[in-house]
Amino acid sequence: MTHEGTLAYIEDIARHEGQRVIVRGWLHARRSSGKIHFLTVRDGSGFIQGVMSKAAVDEETFRLADHLTQESSVIASGTVRADARAPGGFELDLATLEVVGGSADYPITPKEHGVDYLMDRRHLWIRSERQSAVLRVRAEVIAAVRSFFDDRGFILADTPIFTPAACEGTSTLFPVQYFDETTAYLTQSGQLYNEANAMALGRVYCFGPTFRAEKSKTRRHLSEFWMVEPEVAFARLDDVIDLAEDLVVSVVTRVLERRQTELKRLDRDVSKLELVKKPFPRITYDDAVKMLNDKGQPFEWGGDFGAPDETLLANSFDRPVAVTRYPSKVKAFYMEPDPQRPDVALCVDVLAPEGYGEIIGGSQRIADYDLLLRRIKEHDLPKEAFEWYLDLRRYGTVPHGGFGMGIERVVTWICGLDHLREAIPYARTLNRLYP
Ligand code: 4AD
Ligand code: MG
Repeated sequence: MTHEGTLAYIEDIARHEGQRVIVRGWLHARRSSGKIHFLTVRDGSGFIQGVMSKAAVDEETFRLADHLTQESSVIASGTVRADARAPGGFELDLATLEVVGGSADYPITPKEHGVDYLMDRRHLWIRSERQSAVLRVRAEVIAAVRSFFDDRGFILADTPIFTPAACEGTSTLFPVQYFDETTAYLTQSGQLYNEANAMALGRVYCFGPTFRAEKSKTRRHLSEFWMVEPEVAFARLDDVIDLAEDLVVSVVTRVLERRQTELKRLDRDVSKLELVKKPFPRITYDDAVKMLNDKGQPFEWGGDFGAPDETLLANSFDRPVAVTRYPSKVKAFYMEPDPQRPDVALCVDVLAPEGYGEIIGGSQRIADYDLLLRRIKEHDLPKEAFEWYLDLRRYGTVPHGGFGMGIERVVTWICGLDHLREAIPYARTLNRLYP
């Protein structure tokens, strides 16, 4: 079959008002009433309603539309007409229709399905309006992150995924057989290599998948997640917080500018996101403990915050809050102690508002050789595996620092989702390795 018109993507349809276009996609939904079919077509870039009246097409085309099933792939042509009532502002008056591939008994119907049912069919679920909107926001978040660092003179330096040792504690490592004799571990963070890269290149970032064998089944934990990690030579804790603040504001602002359609499709209250401006409140761990106790939440100095604690803390603020100086013993081995008070670390967690929890974790790093060696021993880490890391303190050590921002945590917050599993195309969790 031949179709007349200009090939167009639905997101660009406004440019073709009054013109004949060809759209290629899938049938999302159909409504029919004797003399007219309403066919909602999606092409990945958006959704549009096509209107086919019996009078405008030949009999065969009208009958084809009559039997068109959900998710059949189609090529259609028609004239673009502005319509104020249409969600995207335009409709298509259809002239031709061709089915490319049929679709019998599509398993995800407009009725309600349970989450497990949908996650088992994730490869199809991502075609839905909400899920495709989330993935488009995710792509925007990632693009915003990359531009932010690229535009500021940071050098992207990749870090390995197979690693010989732990970065963020030994309890969440995934071992992998590495050839015959050796065990490697999937990386938990690119940070240690980032530190070496920062000594070579000044300001660097890495961005890739990271792995945690978290045995927890919370809505905030994935076993495979994407993290962007900047690292800066000569940076101190305040520089790290400034950078984190700038990054978060920059990402949220860009998504608000470019992904309004998607945020609307997700029913996100964007007024909450519009509040994400500098400066973020900065409080210490000590302040935070006091705030929790004042709010009637029993919490003892020395522990790490759980999700309910983070929610309670964040609820006192209308924008992300930076919490600094946690007790060293609840944090990683590489964190620089506060010289004024060595039991706390020069670290920061950024907590998102509205109960979305920690989105960023970072710190100043130990610069002194002897102290770092002591910490490695205290944490029972194998010194041999860290010789190269100790070299950074042997040869021209400087204060430095950085942080990691979890992409799925940020996407979950920006999209207003209940669970991280919807913020990544194919979630990996304690109970899920399929599809
Ligand atoms: O706080 P984390 O563990 O910090 C680090 O890994 C540092 N080495 C980063 C650095 O300083 N370069 O993790 C950083 C962020 C968290 O704030 C959170 O956003 C995300 O990574 N994250 C997870 N996201 C999803 N699932 C998990 N299991 C996560 N664990 C951490
Ligand atoms: Mg953390």
